[in-house]
Amino acid sequence: MADVVLRNVRKTYPGGFEAIKGVDFAVGDGQFCVLVGPSGCGKSTLLRMVAGLETITAGEIDIGGRVVNQVEPADRDIAMVFQNYALYPHMSVYNNMAYGLRNRGMAKPEIDARVQEAARILELGSMLQRKPRQLSGGQRQRVAMGRAIVRQPKVFLFDEPLSNLDAKLRVAMRVEIRKLQRRLATTAIYVTHDQLEAMTLADILVVMNGGVVEQIGSPLDVYAKPATTFVASFIGAPPMNLIPMAGGQLQGLAGGAAAEAGILGVRPEDLVIGAAPAGAGGLSLALTVEAIERVGPETFVYGTRGGASETAEVAARPGELPTGEVIVRVPGQTAPAIGERITVAAPRASLHLFSADGRRRLAIPA
Ligand SMILES: Nc1ncnc2c1ncn2[C@@H]1O[C@H](COP(=O)(O)OP(=O)(O)OP(=O)(O)O)[C@@H](O)[C@H]1O
Ligand SMILES: [Mg+2]
Repeated sequence: MADVVLRNVRKTYPGGFEAIKGVDFAVGDGQFCVLVGPSGCGKSTLLRMVAGLETITAGEIDIGGRVVNQVEPADRDIAMVFQNYALYPHMSVYNNMAYGLRNRGMAKPEIDARVQEAARILELGSMLQRKPRQLSGGQRQRVAMGRAIVRQPKVFLFDEPLSNLDAKLRVAMRVEIRKLQRRLATTAIYVTHDQLEAMTLADILVVMNGGVVEQIGSPLDVYAKPATTFVASFIGAPPMNLIPMAGGQLQGLAGGAAAEAGILGVRPEDLVIGAAPAGAGGLSLALTVEAIERVGPETFVYGTRGGASETAEVAARPGELPTGEVIVRVPGQTAPAIGERITVAAPRASLHLFSADGRRRLAIPA
């Protein structure tokens, strides 16, 4: 077991593209760290640098108290599970798991003990003699995990290991991975672009964008207090509503104090249709309903802002907000009709405020 520390890590690919622009974070011994961010933000690059599959342009990566910048992948004591896990098709499940250990010259009884133990943990015991083509996608993914487990590494690295699976299996495997990691208590870094996977798996969430870290924290802290508008709209589904506001419009929130322009954020689940205006400094918006999505236990109402009365609670000086879409998440299946005018409200305590460039979270003035 080991902790993993990244210090000002940078990666410039040959050709000059800077994929990682200075990343710092630490994963404690036994913790599950999830790197999440949109496609191309540098997640795989970072993971491959930890694995030793990419060189590090600048900075330091430390595994278990040892700087590994110059250490070969095979000597880093890590095991990586990829999206494209590529089992050996001609080998049995048993041999797929045993192969790497044999290559290191491990004694047969020790190999057998490790493979049997991994098979027990992964419930593959009855399938050890099958070939990969005789397995379901989820079973194959478990074999790929088995190959990593038998190595008893200090650190597991996962690069979108579930993205080849169908939605139901993804959820099942997500739960399995979490249980497995708790049981083995092995440090893990897990890459995904799926914010739900990130929220449910992580002890520490690292939200990346464009080669930099936007925020690090526990999933619920990141959800409750996103540091930037990028994080606000990336974590949570449907995303947080972000409403640009001029300084004057924020005066209602600021209790009359001078307020600069900013971006007001409100999560779809914090808006209530038809509620009385939300009290001092709360938000009320008038919306025209444009679309309805019923997903079973809840309904998403898409409305467009705009119109004379909408800023009543927000702005001291009535003014027109820029029009824009607002999503409201309501429990159950009852929803207004398309075209209907509705008012929605959220209490002040549920509001978020960001600088006009979206790069800073601001306190809502008292
Ligand atoms: N070998 C390479 N040479 C040059 N640029 C590269 C190379 N590999 C990746 N990149 C670029 O670096 C950036 C980060 O790529 P990376 O694969 O780390 O993204 P990612 O976050 O894993 O995305 P995805 O979610 O799509 O897998 C991308 O813009 C990509 O085009
Ligand atoms: Mg990737």
